[in-house]
This record gives sequence, C-alpha cells and structure tokens, in this order.
Amino acid sequence: MDILAVAGSLRRGSYNLQLAQEAGRVVARTHPDVGFSILDWADVPLLDEDAEHPAPAAVKRVRKAVRDADGVWLFSPEYNHAIPGGLKNLLDWLSRPGDAGEPPVLARKPVALAGASIGSSGATHAQDQLVGVLSFLDARIMNKPRLSIAHVGTQAEDGALSLSASAPYLKAQADAFVRFVERARCR
Ligand SMILES: Cc1cc2nc3c(=O)[nH]c(=O)nc-3n(C[C@H](O)[C@H](O)[C@H](O)COP(=O)(O)O)c2cc1C
Repeated sequence: MDILAVAGSLRRGSYNLQLAQEAGRVVARTHPDVGFSILDWADVPLLDEDAEHPAPAAVKRVRKAVRDADGVWLFSPEYNHAIPGGLKNLLDWLSRPGDAGEPPVLARKPVALAGASIGSSGATHAQDQLVGVLSFLDARIMNKPRLSIAHVGTQAEDGALSLSASAPYLKAQADAFVRFVERARCR
C-alpha cells in the first residue's frame, strides 16, 4: 500500500508540511509495510482552461502520483477560513480528465483530512470545504477521525513542530487511514 501526503502550504517551514513529515515517521514506525511519500506540487501552474491541453508537465506528474497512490492524506492550513488557494488550484487540476480522456484521478480515491493552524479553529473551516470539494470529485473521504490542530505554535519551538498533546491523535488517524485504505482496496 502506498500513501501520498499532500501539504496544503508551500511555505518552507510549514507546520503542515512538518506534520506530514511526522505522519511519515509514524507510518514507518507502526506500519512498516506501507509506503509513504509527500507530493511536491510547488511548480503546478494556475489553471487556465486555455492552457489545459496538453497538460503542463507538472500537472502530468502530480496526476500520476495521485493515480499511483492507494490513498491521499491531506495536511492543510486554512487561509481566511477557507481552503488555501494553491491547494484549491491543485485540486482543480486533479479534477479534470487527462489529455486522452483519462478519468479524474481523485475519483474513488481514499482521502484523509488533517490540518494545523495558528488560530483556534485548527483549519476545520478548510476541512469542511475540502469535504464539499472532494465529495463532488467522488473521492472516498474518511469522515472519522479527522485531525485538527489549533494553536499549533504551542506544539512548536522556534518554528520546529514537536507534537505533544496531538501526537496520539496523529497516530490514531494513521492507524484508521491504513485500515480505511485497506478496506477500499478489498472492494
Ligand atoms: C493568507 C492567510 C490567511 C490565514 N488565515 C487563517 C485563518 O483563517 N485561520 C487560522 O487559524 N490561521 C490563518 N492563517 C495563519 C496560518 O494558520 C499560519 O500562517 C500557519 O502557519 C499556516 O500553515 P503552515 O505553517 O503550514 O504554512 C492565515 C495565514 C495566511 C498566510
């Protein structure tokens, strides 16, 4: 089984990227047979229908990474109580058929939602919106458990994430998502 993590922030020191990296360490420790990688999507251009076909190379690459993964685990902040624009743009590209009419890669794909934010909402506004977008794309969303980390700065020092209170919840989500993907693969 291969899990692909997607961080919704492009910031070099992103807490959400660090959370994804920590998730990778948890998976390696507790599910050593499960592959885990983090998608690099920084070079995906803004979607412009006039430039949709042929798809830009970066788009082809991220579509292939999602198609090849058994499950996609999103780690995203929220921007102004909403999905960060860059992540929404990525999802929009992933929602479109390929150049030869290949089906959109998120259809029937198991997806888990995690996120961290500086504020008190723990990125839940973005997660609620992601549920709407992803269900429209017919992804298989793992509704429970979601992982939401509010005031993420309290679990970091000098910008370095060091999970304390949230660590058991990350482990619980990893266990649940591995089971969820396994069940989806059996169907
Ligand atoms: C444009 C913008 C809007 C933001 N809006 C929110 C918000 O609505 N709620 C919140 O808790 N934090 C908000 N923040 C702060 C983010 O939680 C914080 O920058 C966080 O570190 C971003 O995630 P990252 O560390 O993964 O980059 C916002 C940040 C930016 C840049």
